[in-house]
Amino acid sequence: MNEAELAKLHKMWESFYEKAWAFRKGFFEDEIAEGERNPLRLIHLLDQRERFYTTRFGGVGKEELELTKRKDIPEGRISNIDFDPNGEWTVNDFSLLPTGVSAVDKGVFSSSYITHSSYMKCDKIAVLADLVMRHEFDAVIELGSGYSQNLFKLHYQGGPKIPYYGGEYTESGTECAKMLGALQEDMSLTNFRYDFNNPDYSAIGEHENVLVFTCHAIEQVQNLSAETLPSIAKIAKKVTCVHFEPFGYQLKQQVNEVDRNHQSMFAQRNWNQNLLKCLLNAQRKKEINLSFIGKNIMGSFDRGLNPTSIAVWDNDIAAQGQFKPNA
Ligand SMILES: C[S@@+](CC[C@H](N)C(=O)[O-])C[C@H]1O[C@@H](n2cnc3c(N)ncnc32)[C@H](O)[C@@H]1O
Repeated sequence: MNEAELAKLHKMWESFYEKAWAFRKGFFEDEIAEGERNPLRLIHLLDQRERFYTTRFGGVGKEELELTKRKDIPEGRISNIDFDPNGEWTVNDFSLLPTGVSAVDKGVFSSSYITHSSYMKCDKIAVLADLVMRHEFDAVIELGSGYSQNLFKLHYQGGPKIPYYGGEYTESGTECAKMLGALQEDMSLTNFRYDFNNPDYSAIGEHENVLVFTCHAIEQVQNLSAETLPSIAKIAKKVTCVHFEPFGYQLKQQVNEVDRNHQSMFAQRNWNQNLLKCLLNAQRKKEINLSFIGKNIMGSFDRGLNPTSIAVWDNDIAAQGQFKPNA
């Protein structure tokens, strides 16, 4: 791809999320007008709609997103049992669940393609909730947070009652998160505009010990700046950062078919190429203390064939390279 083509692709993805979040905000507004008030109910209602409808640009050259009912989900009752007039019965093979949703989906876990239930999701929020439980964080910050669905889910999944922050690139995602946040008083949520390659953390209050996370957001940044991770490390006195990002293909150990396909998908979409390199360089320059890398460990259960890896680091540089007894 030449420079002009790359720039066009970049603009396309940028405007995709601006429109995608505005479209979903419209859904929330309609539901709120109907009387819905709870952010988590709204997020689950959206998830449900997205199981039955796809949200796509209306066709080649079309600028607006459209909702299309999924053709593979039939109306009416789904049955796989035949009864004959004598009351004998046969259970037949089936491809659809009683909801009409496909019984199986294709995914990736570790280094293998697998099939799994369509209802199987990898619960990154439970991972976050457990991590938070093991530490005394005094704030949680998601960077590239969209409409902050992860932060709402973490709060309603028993996350601690400490300040939450969502930094997001798009205006529509930020406004949508603010609209949902205004529906409740239980959770302290601050939403602000954030660009990984031009970071500004001034919206974040003074905290001692924060958890920062990213979830399929650095994914969208073709070349992460070498300054970004060190800048995150300075957000507070103590920073722990978890990346739920699809960088598994960037690990050049035991490269397999999954990695090759993943890499070519990322090259075609102009998505992130260098998160792993940034992590390793920051470690070598003693800017971060990298403690864990799990390749494709969260699978791709809700992300098509785009498996999520985990990287964990903190800013305790003095602890770099120390033996981790529980690893
Ligand atoms: C796949 S969505 C994930 C959103 C959210 N993390 C979640 O899991 O629901 C990717 C997000 O990254 C955001 N993004 C894209 N480029 C960005 C950048 N340069 N800085 C910060 N966020 C960015 C997009 O606007 C979008 O909200």
